[in-house]
Amino acid sequence: IIMDGNGRWAIQRNKPRLFGHRAGIKALKRIVEFCAKLPVDILTVFAFSTENWKRPKEEVNTLMNLVVEYIERELDLLDRNGIKINPIGILDELPEKTLEYIKKAAEKTKDNNKLVLNVALNYGGRAEITQAVKKICQKIANGEITPQDINEDLISRFLYTSNMPDPDLLIRPSGEMRLSNFLLWQIAYSELWVTNVLWPDFKPQHLINAIYDFQNRDRRFGGINLS
Ligand code: IPE
Ligand code: IPE
Ligand code: MG
Repeated sequence: IIMDGNGRWAIQRNKPRLFGHRAGIKALKRIVEFCAKLPVDILTVFAFSTENWKRPKEEVNTLMNLVVEYIERELDLLDRNGIKINPIGILDELPEKTLEYIKKAAEKTKDNNKLVLNVALNYGGRAEITQAVKKICQKIANGEITPQDINEDLISRFLYTSNMPDPDLLIRPSGEMRLSNFLLWQIAYSELWVTNVLWPDFKPQHLINAIYDFQNRDRRFGGINLS
């Protein structure tokens, strides 16, 4: 899920953008708890992109503090619900306190197996592929592999989502018809579902609608369905 539309939601209410981000956290809480009750194994949420640093410093700080607040407030419940928090992105560029909290959350929940919650923080699809290329080149330089060993499987293993299946469904609230640098490699064959609903208004019912539509899609993966 690309959790987009917080700012517009606040502006519609003549409130500061922060107000929308807070409402976005509530939506996240609802959807995570709901997913934990469904046979959903992995939920990946886009929380902050490598491009979001372009925003005013004040908004960036607000978002980074909200991550800390969310973990402070929700960690015990997430843990009790069997949710494994798995941050993905260039984590060492995050502010110290944010990094400390996400590491704590990941450590505390590492053995949970009801739902993996990938939290994309300072995440960019291109940045992810770039770091994978660097690591692969280093392996070649070390003589551990040769260029002939490079295939799609190997590349996938150097992404943050190594050992996870590709997403089945990509949900984008707020009506934007773009990927905004989210999971570029992994979503090659994901089903897209866009809604004009802004993220703070996103409810379990919207997720049900998305899943229902997904179940009625004809996934061909480049092949043809003979039935
Ligand atoms: C998504 O909401 C939150 C982040 C990108 C961190 P936005 O802040 O992008 O909300 P809009 O797109 O301005 O409405
Ligand atoms: C995508 O939303 C990133 C997150 C939701 C974290 P943006 O608001 O940054 O995307 P653009 O700028 O509209 O493409
Ligand atoms: Mg946005």
